[in-house]
Amino acid sequence: CYPQMSKATLTVCVSGAAGQIAYSLLPLIARGDVFGQDQPIELRLLEIKPALDALHGVVMELYDCAFPLVRNIVETDDPMVAFQHADVTILSGSFPRRPGMERRDLIAKNVNIFKAQGQALDRVASKNVKVVVVGNPSNTNALVLSHFAPSIPKQNITALTRLDQNRAVGQIAMRTGVNADQVEGVAIWGNHSATQYPDVTHAKVNGEAVMPKLGGRQAVAEEFIPCIQKRGAAILKARGLSSAMSAANAIGDHLRSWILGDSKVVSMAVASDGSYDVKPGVYFSFPVRCGGGGDYEIVQGIEMDEFSRKYVSATTEELFAERQEALELCAV
Ligand code: NAD
Ligand code: LMR
Repeated sequence: CYPQMSKATLTVCVSGAAGQIAYSLLPLIARGDVFGQDQPIELRLLEIKPALDALHGVVMELYDCAFPLVRNIVETDDPMVAFQHADVTILSGSFPRRPGMERRDLIAKNVNIFKAQGQALDRVASKNVKVVVVGNPSNTNALVLSHFAPSIPKQNITALTRLDQNRAVGQIAMRTGVNADQVEGVAIWGNHSATQYPDVTHAKVNGEAVMPKLGGRQAVAEEFIPCIQKRGAAILKARGLSSAMSAANAIGDHLRSWILGDSKVVSMAVASDGSYDVKPGVYFSFPVRCGGGGDYEIVQGIEMDEFSRKYVSATTEELFAERQEALELCAV
């Protein structure tokens, strides 16, 4: 009988840990659904001071779940404590939008959170930390974070668009009467906003093109694309609160693909590098291939027709406008 070899503990920081996304996300992480059933976890839970009592309630529940993989739980309102030695950091701590708002309306409310957290990451985080920004407007918050954390490689910071990918896959499956795992080749380009481009031009269902099954280009432009672009607002209107369960599920998917690797192409917002004529300077959702261990590359050579180009250029323009607005606000 040999001694059991165990993996080193993975330190996972979650900001906004008393919020509604975290409430759905923490059990997924603690149960091993994200990083693996053999991966011990330390949780670093970050909140603002007024939410520390609520956070403590969440932590009591985590202990009451008796998750075998959880080795330690830290509760704090200090980003320097939360980020120190973190291997993975999930940033959902911010204000969500309310009915009638666009995500961009949150720039002024949330930009300073990501400025301060960028500065803290820069000072105490491992240069290898992998960060996913969830708080809206997530692409631009990722940019602000990266701007104020110059010692963290830009590639280690990402923003969440996996929720948009899952929404597109879910809609295709529902509209064509197949299971979600029979849909492939959907890509999300650009901003996690109403200008995002959920691209089905190369998508297939059981090996057959999706576009005709959705009624052709005009129907895709008039019905499918706006449905995905406005899905967050539709959920907000129905629930009175923004999506949380599906957001947590998507964060789990994003991190599983990124950290453990994925044989499928997935979408995530990453630092633009000139691919597809998107100039460096923004966090832009591209289809990427994740090789595991935090490596990824933007998939090159995807054919883009006039239909797609129009959408990509609109979302690029919006991201550069958000960039300017956010950096001006940070300078004040
Ligand atoms: P929530 O209001 O339920 O929770 C947010 C939590 O963040 C609160 O507990 C709050 O106290 C905390 N917080 C605020 N400022 C903080 C700071 N400086 N440091 C640490 N914690 C802080 O909101 P939620 O529903 O969990 O959503 C969180 C964010 O995620 C919102 O911005 C929302 O718009 C966004 N969101 C993004 C996506 C996406 O796909 N990118 C999907 C859903 C929601
Ligand atoms: C979503 O897409 O559901 C989130 O970004 C929340 C929102 O405000 O839309």
